[in-house]
Amino acid sequence: MEMKRNPTKLLLWLMFLSDSVPFTYEKSMREQAIKLMQDTRLIDGHNDFVLRLRIFYQNRLSKVNLREINKTHTNLAKLEAGYVGAQFWSVYVLCSAQNKDAVRLTLEQIDVVKRMCNSYEELELVTTSQGISDSKKIACLIGIEGGHSIDSSLATLRMYYDLGVRYMTLTHSCNTPWSESSSKGIHNFYPSVTGLTAFGQEVVKEMNRLGMLIDLSHTSYSTAKDALHISKAPVIFSHSAAFSVCNHSRNVPDDILQQLKRNRGIIMVTFNADVLACGREVVNISTLADHFDYIKKIAGPESIGIGGDYDGVERFPEGLEDVSKYPYLIEELLRRGWSETELKAVLRENFLRVFREVEKVRNSSGLMDVGESEILHKEVQNSCRLDLHNYRIETISSFGFSSVAQSFSLTLVIVPYLILYYGS
Ligand SMILES: *[C@@H]1O[C@H](CO)[C@@H](O)[C@H](O)[C@H]1NC(C)=O
Ligand SMILES: *[C@@H]1O[C@H](CO)[C@@H](O)[C@H](O)[C@H]1NC(C)=O
Ligand SMILES: *[C@@H]1O[C@H](CO)[C@@H](O)[C@H](O)[C@H]1NC(C)=O
Ligand SMILES: *[C@@H]1O[C@H](CO)[C@@H](O)[C@H](O)[C@H]1NC(C)=O
Ligand SMILES: [Zn+2]
Repeated sequence: MEMKRNPTKLLLWLMFLSDSVPFTYEKSMREQAIKLMQDTRLIDGHNDFVLRLRIFYQNRLSKVNLREINKTHTNLAKLEAGYVGAQFWSVYVLCSAQNKDAVRLTLEQIDVVKRMCNSYEELELVTTSQGISDSKKIACLIGIEGGHSIDSSLATLRMYYDLGVRYMTLTHSCNTPWSESSSKGIHNFYPSVTGLTAFGQEVVKEMNRLGMLIDLSHTSYSTAKDALHISKAPVIFSHSAAFSVCNHSRNVPDDILQQLKRNRGIIMVTFNADVLACGREVVNISTLADHFDYIKKIAGPESIGIGGDYDGVERFPEGLEDVSKYPYLIEELLRRGWSETELKAVLRENFLRVFREVEKVRNSSGLMDVGESEILHKEVQNSCRLDLHNYRIETISSFGFSSVAQSFSLTLVIVPYLILYYGS
């Protein structure tokens, strides 16, 4: 049968085609992103949800249903919808707790992560790379955000490791007695510290020995340089972006990105709109994807991960408002020509590689001595810190009296006796 030529019909047909081709293309990109994430579930480097649990509910889990809580960016239903396979929960305590009760607060945040992950069947606490690989649930990992949480004590660091902590960010927005933060002028702690002090270097070595990941987000340029120089294992930035795209002090400059590549570490890119956009008005998925493209150009796709920082800040790019939205980023990166292999690496495999290498350094450090360095007392401005150096423990008498009490009671007995004997 011969078709009759009809120019109007042809035109309509062409218009239909030009409309529907991008439509099916979009749709298939979305499907491809979802398929990819179903096979390769995301390991996210940073989420501050548990700080919200403290602020809103004083950590009383009985007061809230985490499956459907809506005043946070994070809930369990949204994590499932975002194809999150593993989440580092930040046990962040504010810098204002430094030199006060930062250790207690950190322990309480670790406690709430453990209770949360043990009481919901969707979640499972893990502490190893193998644990992440084996988990059929959303694997929970614990990260400390800010060196102030260890109160300048390697023993405290070790006890956190024993409790399951697997990364520590060397600083938050305050200097510690041993590490310099990228934030200036927010807090006034230890203003003369630059980079890592001698004790700070011991902290990094002890983290290597323990198998705890070193996180350099929030640290100053010098701290990051020093840590990259000292660390025997790959390091991470758990939530940062590219300084060349947005010159925020939280972001990572090109030379550090290149050094990170040589270190085989990764930068897990944050979704924090302020850090991505430097005050630009429109902040959307393209803004975030620009950081991914740029970092890939400088450090390669093997140096990239994702660290959303949900519930850590208020403002996120349009289209990425909560933890269910990760597939939209993957879709955008597919559209920009990222291959499936590259995206699987970004979603999951790069982090697993880093974690395995950190564990390998731990496994081979059997001959390294346990860190017994102490910070100098004068380096810590904390009047609550009891100094027991050269403290003299009083000798105890066989009667259970201290020597002071003993001489006092002897006086009580002897003086009246002498008075009786010699008196009058
Ligand atoms: C949260 O929002 C969802 C979807 O809008 C709704 O079904 C659910 O009931 C809400 N949960 C709470 C605790 O408000
Ligand atoms: C970022 O760039 C702006 C404009 O060039 C400049 O004023 C600002 O000081 C820079 N900030 C940093 C942290 O370098
Ligand atoms: C993001 O915003 C820019 C500027 O308005 C726009 O050109 C771009 O198409 C937007 N991207 C997305 C993914 O919406
Ligand atoms: C490290 O050692 C543990 C215990 O022997 C072992 O299970 C694990 O597979 C090792 N990890 C690596 C990455 O070598
Ligand atoms: Zn942070």
